[in-house]
Amino acid sequence: MPEVPKTVWLNGKIKKFEDANISILSHGLHYGTGIFEGIRSYKTEDGPAIFRLDDHVKRFFQSARIYSMNLNRSENEIREAILDISIKNNADDSYIRPLAFYSSTKLGLHPSDPDITIAIIVSRLDLYMGKTNDGIRTKISPWRKIDSTALPSMAKGTGQYLSSYLSSRDAKMDGYNEAILLDRSGYVCEGPGENIFSVKNGQVYTPSLESPILAGITRDTVIKIMGKKNQVVEKRIGLSELLTSDEAFFAGTAAEITPISEISGYKLNSSNPHSISNKVKSMYFDVVRGKNGKFKSWLTYLS
Ligand SMILES: Cc1ncc(COP(=O)(O)O)c(C=O)c1O
Repeated sequence: MPEVPKTVWLNGKIKKFEDANISILSHGLHYGTGIFEGIRSYKTEDGPAIFRLDDHVKRFFQSARIYSMNLNRSENEIREAILDISIKNNADDSYIRPLAFYSSTKLGLHPSDPDITIAIIVSRLDLYMGKTNDGIRTKISPWRKIDSTALPSMAKGTGQYLSSYLSSRDAKMDGYNEAILLDRSGYVCEGPGENIFSVKNGQVYTPSLESPILAGITRDTVIKIMGKKNQVVEKRIGLSELLTSDEAFFAGTAAEITPISEISGYKLNSSNPHSISNKVKSMYFDVVRGKNGKFKSWLTYLS
């Protein structure tokens, strides 16, 4: 499919992309009062399938709840709408973006009417961080992750992503592929749009959910596919632990599994083809492409 979809789902109707317009006075645009999801579909031998659709829909509603946004639709309605617009746009290897925001057009912080616009957009998103076989170069962001006492890290609120924008812009301006954010005490959190894992002496670690991070669905996928045998340890990770780890990788719907080869000048071992990061990456792609029978229930087929 092309970058720009033919049609989008907007407030219950299928509209041509060019007809799906909103007011420049929209509350969500001025104050960041929106919530969203990022979902992928993959080609599989049994036809295209959306990965962990129900979990993404659940988190979409959780984000809405945290911000007291009444979506006026059931989880099942949104699930069916995602399937409908995905089928209409032939979403095989695609990225699906449900978005909901206050559409009040009166200026003023408290939305004067509770109307919410919901859109579902299907688009193309290839390798999020470019070619990643050798691992990517990352930079510790000078911008700290916002504490969850200030903004709820368990929600995907649109306004929260200014923090992600600042950190990734800083990394890219310095020639790096991506940023890593620390919390206000200097512990490792996550990337601007992906969770992080590290590996030391064969043991895989990831920041625990006490840190101000998103409870990523890919993070959970990695923990589950590693299973009890290679149990991932969830704990607070100090910066010096991360910098002296053998390997590290990002995990996210958009980033998929992306090995990290460098953190602010510290070289890691991730480019080794036999590394744990690359093993996790290959296990992940088997799961999302329906090649691992144990996890097939995570796929919702489009046909
Ligand atoms: C801040 C942040 N952390 C982590 C993730 C990874 O989450 P998921 O694996 O559910 O895509 C995302 C992406 O949604 C994100 O925006």
